[in-house]
Amino acid sequence: MNVYEAVKSRRTIRKFKRQPLQNEDIMQIIDCARLAPYGANLQPLKFAVVSDEETRRKLFPLIKYAGYLTDWDPTFEECPTSFIIVMNDTDIKPTDKSECDSGAAVMSMCLAAQALGIGSCWLGAIDRKGISEVLKLDKRLDVTYLLGLGYADQTGEVFDLSDSVKYYFDDDGNVHVPKRTMDEIIINL
Ligand SMILES: Cc1cc2nc3c(=O)[nH]c(=O)nc-3n(C[C@H](O)[C@H](O)[C@H](O)COP(=O)(O)O)c2cc1C
Repeated sequence: MNVYEAVKSRRTIRKFKRQPLQNEDIMQIIDCARLAPYGANLQPLKFAVVSDEETRRKLFPLIKYAGYLTDWDPTFEECPTSFIIVMNDTDIKPTDKSECDSGAAVMSMCLAAQALGIGSCWLGAIDRKGISEVLKLDKRLDVTYLLGLGYADQTGEVFDLSDSVKYYFDDDGNVHVPKRTMDEIIINL
């Protein structure tokens, strides 16, 4: 799969199969975050992997899925089989200046995962303090995002946005995501 295909086919996945990921695949995904662009090349981010069930069960209540899917009640059984914890090392850079660094790193990981046939869910609606406590993180490390990973148990596709930005699950549990059209986003100068 080339990069263009990965970009086009990637959708946020929120239902995962129970099949665990190979550690080497997870490391390959994090390696792509390592190689991402960073402002002033400071590389302030650190990464941790949580795959064991006990810790994932503690993290599960601290993440929030899909604000628009109000009639969907996610269960632990369909949650990611691994989480990558993305942290900013405040000894290197203040966290409020590292948002773009996290964005570039997480997106690189989402695309790397897609190329490996692995689904991903970028998670920002998270209880950062709670996650730090569960993982007993050093004070210098601020959680910026979680990336949920696993083999997808749903498909996802896009359609042209007309009146609402709300994505939805269809009757088969697959996700449909409205995207603004090229005509809407291009400003002709
Ligand atoms: C910064 C950021 C934070 C996000 N946080 C969450 C989240 O907490 N929970 C969730 O279910 N999806 C989250 N998402 C995924 C978005 O909902 C998703 O990208 C959007 O609906 C478009 O769908 P797509 O990724 O399939 O294109 C987040 C995405 C980004 C970029």
